[in-house]
Amino acid sequence: MQVLIDTDPGMGTVGVDPEDAFAITMALSSPGVTVEAIACVQGNVPIRHSLANATHLLELLGRRDVLVAAGLERPLLAARRRQQERWLTETDGRERLLPAAERPYPAARAVEVILRAARESDGLTIVAIGPLTNIAAALVADPELPGLLERIVVMGGAFEVCGNITPTAEFNFFMDPEAAQIVLDARLRPELIGLDVCHQTHLTHEQMAAVEFTTPLGRFVRRACAAWLPTQDGDAPHLYDSLAMAAALEPQLVTLEPARVEIETVSAALAGTSAAWLPGRFSEWSRPDGPDNALVATEVDVDGFAAFFAERVLARL
Ligand code: RIB
Ligand code: CA
Repeated sequence: MQVLIDTDPGMGTVGVDPEDAFAITMALSSPGVTVEAIACVQGNVPIRHSLANATHLLELLGRRDVLVAAGLERPLLAARRRQQERWLTETDGRERLLPAAERPYPAARAVEVILRAARESDGLTIVAIGPLTNIAAALVADPELPGLLERIVVMGGAFEVCGNITPTAEFNFFMDPEAAQIVLDARLRPELIGLDVCHQTHLTHEQMAAVEFTTPLGRFVRRACAAWLPTQDGDAPHLYDSLAMAAALEPQLVTLEPARVEIETVSAALAGTSAAWLPGRFSEWSRPDGPDNALVATEVDVDGFAAFFAERVLARL
C-alpha cells in the first residue's frame, strides 16, 4: 500500500499533542505500507514548526529517507479568516524544543510532491490528518488528481456530535473551511473520520502504564507532551489522527456510510461546521442538490483499534 501523509505535527511545541506523530509512527511501523512522502500543512502550529516537527520525528524513528515537504503557509482564504490567523500567531509564540524551519524551505513543496506521488504511484492513498489546504491546492493545480488516487482518508468533521474548536466545528475543517469544501466537491468521495468516531476512542492510563519510554521517540513524547498524556486521575485523551490512519490501513475498524456533506464557509461563527445528510437521518427534501460526495465514519471497533494502536504505536515508545 502506497501512502502519502498530509499532516500538521505539533510535537516539538511544548504542550501540543503527539497525535499526528503517532499516526505517522503507525504508518511507518506497518508492514506492507510505503510512505511515499510527508506533506506538512499549517494547523496545530504554523508551517515552519510543522515542518521542523515532522523532520525531527523522522530522525527519532531513524527514517530520514522519507521525503518531507512544506505546504502552504496559510489557509486558502486566510485574509478573511481572522480567528484562524490568530490561532497560528498564538501557536507561533509558544515554547519550543526544536528550532523552527527556516525559509527558503526545501524544494519540492507539498503541492508538487502530492501531484508527483499521485502520478508515480500505482494507486496512492492520501491520509490527510490536518487542514485540507495542501490537498485543495493540489486539486486546483491539477484537476486530474482525483483519477490518480486510490483513496483519500481524512481526519475531519463533526457530523452528529458537537465541535471541538467551536461549538459546531471540528478543528481541521475550521482551520480551512474552503479547502474542505473543495475536497468534497472534487468527486473523490473522501472517507471522513470525524469526531463522531474519534470521541469514542480513549488512550487510557492503563494502556500507557505498560509503556517504558526508553526509545528516542518515547523519551521525546514524554518530554514534549507530558501535559497531554493520560494520568491516573485525569481524563483519557481521544485519538483522532491515529484513528484516521488506522482506518486507512485496516478499513474494517470503522463503518462508513455514504452521505452528502457540506461545509459552512460564509458565517465566521460557524466556519468549518460540517453537515452530513446520512441515510435515514433526515428527510430527502432538505438535502442540498447533488449526489453523495463522501463516506462518513459512524461506528468504530473501539477494542480492535486500541489493540492496533498498542501494537503499531505504543510498542515504539
Ligand atoms: O480535531 C482533531 C484534529 O485537530 C487532529 O488532526 C489533531 O491534530 C487536532 O489538533
Ligand atoms: Ca492533525
